[in-house]
Amino acid sequence: MSKKIIVTGGAGYIGSHTVVELMHAGYEPVIIDDFRNSKPWIIDRIGELTGKYPLGHSIDCADEKEVLSVFRNYTDIFGVIHFAAYKAVGESVQKPTMYYQNNIGSLCAILNAMKETKISNLVFSSSCTVYGEPSTPAVTENTPIQKANSPYGDTKIICERIIENVKISGQPIQAALLRYFNPIGAHPSGKLGELPNGIPNNLVPYITQTAAGIREQLVVNGNDYTTSDGTNIRDYIHVVDLAKAHVKALEWLQNQNKPVCEPFNLGTGKGTSVLEIIHSFEEVNQVKVNYKIGPRREGDVEQIFANPTKAEKMLNWKCDYSVADALKHSWNWEKTL
Ligand code: UFG
Repeated sequence: MSKKIIVTGGAGYIGSHTVVELMHAGYEPVIIDDFRNSKPWIIDRIGELTGKYPLGHSIDCADEKEVLSVFRNYTDIFGVIHFAAYKAVGESVQKPTMYYQNNIGSLCAILNAMKETKISNLVFSSSCTVYGEPSTPAVTENTPIQKANSPYGDTKIICERIIENVKISGQPIQAALLRYFNPIGAHPSGKLGELPNGIPNNLVPYITQTAAGIREQLVVNGNDYTTSDGTNIRDYIHVVDLAKAHVKALEWLQNQNKPVCEPFNLGTGKGTSVLEIIHSFEEVNQVKVNYKIGPRREGDVEQIFANPTKAEKMLNWKCDYSVADALKHSWNWEKTL
C-alpha cells in the first residue's frame, strides 16, 4: 500500500502535529499549504523532529487547477487529510463570503481532484460547533446537528453535508468526519505549537500570552452561567492526541470495503471550566495569569463536551495526555516564541 497522504494545511497548528505523527507511523505526507495562516519554518521544525523533510506545495487549496495538478503529480496517493480552512468565529461573522468561498471552495476542489485521480480516502477536519447548544452537554455523534451560530460553523455543517452527498452520488468515497472539541497544548519537544495571528481568539493562547506579558489581562467571558463555577465548560484535548486520531482514522479507512461517511467526536469526554483552566495553568507552570471577569461573549455555548466512545471503539484510539500536560506544553511553547 502506498503511504503517501496529501495533507492540506499541513503547516498549521493541528496539521503540523499530524504530519509528525504520520511520519512516525511510516506515512509520507505531501503538504499543501500556502502559509497564509502558518509559517514556512514549521516545515523545518517537522524535519528536525522526524529526521526527514515532508514533501510540500505552496498553493491555494481553493484553486481547483493547482490542486488537481498537485494530485496528478503523484500516482500513489492513499488518501487526503483536509485541514486547510479559515477558523475564526468572529471574523466569519464580519466576512461571511470569504469563509464560504474558502472553506467550501477548497473542499470542492479537493473532492473534484480526488474524483479525477481516483483517490477515495478522505479525513475531514470538522468541529463540535455542528452541535450548537446541545440539550445535554455530553454529545454523541447522534446528537442532532443544529443551526450554526456563525458562518464558520455553517461552513463545517455544509462541508459535512457535501461529503455525504458526494458519497450518495456514487463517487467511491470513504470519509471520516472528525469533529474536534477544543484542541490545546503543543508538541512536548517545544518545537511545534499554535501561532495565533494577532490577538488570539481562543482561551489558551490568550492565557499564555497574558502570562508572557504580551497581553495585559485575560477577560473571562462571563461567570453567570449555570455551571459549577459559572464559567463555560469545554472539552480541551491535547493537540498530539488529536493528531494521533488522524493516523487511526486512516487505518480505519483502509479497512473499509464500501463507501462510508462517518462522523467521530474527538474529545477527552471530560468537561473543564474556564476558571479551572486558568487555575490549572497557574498551578502546573507556577506562573500568575492576570484576569478579570467580563460579560458573556455572544454566541458562546454554555457547556459542551464529547462522548468519545465511538472513536475509542471504532478507531481504537484514546487520549494519553491530561489537560495539565497540555497547559504545561502550551507554556513551554510560548516561552520559545
Ligand atoms: N474565553 C474567555 N476569554 C478569552 C477567550 C475565551 O473567557 O479571552 C472562553 C470562551 O468564552 C469559552 C472558552 O473560553 O467559554 C473557550 O473559548 P475558545 O474561543 O478557546 O473556544 P470555543 O469553545 O469558543 O471555540 C472552539 C473553536 C471553534 C469552534 C467552537 C465550537 O475554537 O473553532 O469551539 O464550540 F467553533
